[in-house]
Amino acid sequence: MTDEENMQIITAIDRMIEFARRAKKNNRTVGLVPTMGYLHAGHMSLMHRAKKECDAVVVSIFVNPAQFAPGEDFEKYPRDTERDKRLMEKEGVEVVFMPSIGEMYPEGNSTCVSPEGDFAKSLCGASRPGHFKGVTTVVAKLFNIVAPDKAYFGQKDAQQAVVVKRMVRDLNMPIEIRVMPTAREKDGLAMSSRNTHLSGDLRRQALGLFRSLELAKKMVSRGEISSGHVKEEMRKILSEEKDVKVDYVEIRDADDLSPIAEVKSNTLIAVAAVVGTTRLIDNIIIS
Ligand code: PAJ
Repeated sequence: MTDEENMQIITAIDRMIEFARRAKKNNRTVGLVPTMGYLHAGHMSLMHRAKKECDAVVVSIFVNPAQFAPGEDFEKYPRDTERDKRLMEKEGVEVVFMPSIGEMYPEGNSTCVSPEGDFAKSLCGASRPGHFKGVTTVVAKLFNIVAPDKAYFGQKDAQQAVVVKRMVRDLNMPIEIRVMPTAREKDGLAMSSRNTHLSGDLRRQALGLFRSLELAKKMVSRGEISSGHVKEEMRKILSEEKDVKVDYVEIRDADDLSPIAEVKSNTLIAVAAVVGTTRLIDNIIIS
């Protein structure tokens, strides 16, 4: 059962529930890593940690239509299941849960989980209305199906991690949310499945996001505390790249995402921009 060569692919919800029940009966802890596939080192770092902390690792791969608005990149979202399977097998993943859209959202499906409040409606929630409702709905469904002890998320999607933590708290889900650091390419670009859309010069311009965050870090380490000044300088860096259209540059409390005028400890500095036609996000935490 725990043999890495015997990674199970499960597509049916009732079989996934059965696995979870069996694990519980056998006193085995389960770690869940929810993903949309097209795996990279960021995803793998979550699985690696889950493997260290739990008896069984379940990875879900589901490109969730509910979190994409019409006109967003649902159809264009990169997919390579065979490559993903090889990577997960190497990492010792026990179960890959890969439901179809019809399995997750059968006809008549009409109930969702909707995070309310500025922490979900600002930042990415402002430019992608409905996005976090789609995320919390699918994550709640995955939590119900897999019943994990721990679930692993990336700091790269800082707001998503806050929204999921709030859902777990508000709906009393007995699951520990673990948030792991952002994995980066050698030059600093945050790893993202969407980076595959960036060729040549756009890939270079995308580094503007990282450079703007590096500048913010430097300003703060030199004693700058005004959020306004930091944001202004970050915008200047981003405006140097002709195909980078800034969506937001924000400085917020890292726990509840409330706006803050002065940088303090536990501050999130976050940026979102469209590079060519690809929307990218990145952030750092000042601790
Ligand atoms: P996806 O973009 O595939 O990301 C899956 C998980 O990997 C998320 O928790 C994300 O924060 C994390 N991740 C992505 N890039 C990372 C990086 N560079 N370093 C560390 N972790 C990284 O996020 C989603 O899918 C979906 O919204 C999902 C939670 C699966 C719900 O559909």
